[in-house]
Parts: sequence; structure tokens; C-alpha cells
Amino acid sequence: MKISWRNSDFIEIDLKAGKVNLEVNGCQPLHDLANKINGISESEIDAYIAKLGLEHQELLMKEALLRLQGKWKFPYTEEELCHCRMIPTKVVDEAVIGGLRTPEEIGRFCSAGITCGNCGTDIAAIISCRT
Ligand code: FES
Repeated sequence: MKISWRNSDFIEIDLKAGKVNLEVNGCQPLHDLANKINGISESEIDAYIAKLGLEHQELLMKEALLRLQGKWKFPYTEEELCHCRMIPTKVVDEAVIGGLRTPEEIGRFCSAGITCGNCGTDIAAIISCRT
């Protein structure tokens, strides 16, 4: 299972003999976090998820661990989120992972949500899902 972010950062995760097996490529904080989690048992995953915070590497690791458990539920599945501004869902999601936490910040960053506003609830749902 592979999770990509910004084309260059990725996490590959699976279970080997009941232990989490992680391969990552990305920033040093992502590598450091992977080193802490690599090798934990399947039964310890929920406890590790509960400890994760809001730094980008923690949000990505949370997604990876939830995907491994089959529990990841992203609230919006279409490729384009803001139809007025033709903003892809991925751009909004990356902005949240990168640290933006309100629809207003997202709008200033990429213009999603600033025209008709119909996509505002979807933007808020992504923020809520990630954080
Ligand atoms: S659909 Fe996003 S502002 Fe209209």
C-alpha cells in the first residue's frame, strides 16, 4: 500500500508477521516518525494513532495506519473539489496537510471556496477529517 504526497514524499506500509513494515521517502521528520513506528505490533496501532499530532508527517502517518487497518475514510471522492475555480481535491488536501486549518486560509492559498461557496462544506469536511 503506497500513500503519496506532493509527488516526492511517500509511505509504503504493510504488515509482516503481524508487525508494521514502513518504507518512507520524504523529509527527516517523516523518516524519524517512521523509525519510531516501524516494527510495532498490529495491536499497538490504535495507541500510536492516538499519540499522533497535527504536523504534516503525523497526518500522513495517521492516514497510512488507518489505511492499513481499513479504517481510512476521506470525505470527498471527486477529483475536482471547487468547480468555480477548478481546484483539485488534492490541492485542498495538501494545503491542510501542510498546515492550513480554516476554509478562509484555504481560500487565500488556492482560491477554493471563494466564489459561490458551495464547496465550503467539503473543504470543512476535509479539514475535520485530517485534524
Ligand atoms: S464550487 Fe467552490 S466556490 Fe463555487
